[in-house]
Amino acid sequence: MVLIDGKKVAAEIKSEIAAEVAEMTARGERAPHLAAILVGHDGGSETYVAHKVKACGECGFKSTLIRFEDDVTEAELLQTIDSLNADDSVDGFIVQLPLPKHISEQKIIEAIDYRKDVDGFHPINVGRMSIGLPCFKSATPAGIIELLDRYHISTRGADCVVLGRSNIVGKPVATLLMQKACPGDATVTVCHSATRNLKEKCAAADIIIAALGVPGFVTADMVKEGAAIIDVGTTRVPADNKNGWRLRGDVDFDNVAPKCSFITPVPGGVGPMTIVSLMKNTLLAAKHSIYQ
Ligand code: GUN
Repeated sequence: MVLIDGKKVAAEIKSEIAAEVAEMTARGERAPHLAAILVGHDGGSETYVAHKVKACGECGFKSTLIRFEDDVTEAELLQTIDSLNADDSVDGFIVQLPLPKHISEQKIIEAIDYRKDVDGFHPINVGRMSIGLPCFKSATPAGIIELLDRYHISTRGADCVVLGRSNIVGKPVATLLMQKACPGDATVTVCHSATRNLKEKCAAADIIIAALGVPGFVTADMVKEGAAIIDVGTTRVPADNKNGWRLRGDVDFDNVAPKCSFITPVPGGVGPMTIVSLMKNTLLAAKHSIYQ
């Protein structure tokens, strides 16, 4: 069994990005600039955004964090998005999700100029990705594909089961896995709450991508000997430590790992790759590599 070290791969990619940024600034170009909007004080979102800001520093990027309280209006957020869209010193920006219930996430996502949408959530980027055109690919799916590639996990003709159909992980990772590309060319089954015979489908899979947010959902009896397992789950569960919680993935790691060819840990698997994909998109935005 090979433990996929997302932290190590992410560190390698960040140093590749930092080297490229050093060349850009040596030529007199300005460093890439990522802005992040964070609403409220959700613990998970605070942590994710802090990691994104830290990664910007490691890559030599400029970052700007714009914070609002939970009671911010949709109009105020839309106004901030308009000004970031118009600000030539900002290459890309993200609005950390989830947002409070009184704000329409879809309206917010669609207000972002797709040329600065480094999360790859705007319908133009999602649509372009689904037909294989250059675009900002959303960060978690792109990070998963990069891990499969770097660990030479063959997807061509592989039976892949994706657990979960969210817009930010399940659907886009299924799209990338089935694309005529390498990695890609997989036969993909997307399972969700209405799926019948889910255990049997998982047990027949060469690759399982677990992204449903149910800790320990994938048990050893659902996994074929030699399968590759990618765990996207990051649920906070109570723990006897100084935080009072720890992150737990969607896979029953201790019992599943011995059966696998490859498996990602939680934390230290997909999470660091998600952040690095955002950095890659920001660099592409700064270089106008995808859109003028
Ligand atoms: N919430 C959970 N994952 C993400 C992400 O990749 N981007 C944003 N903006 N919010 C998230």
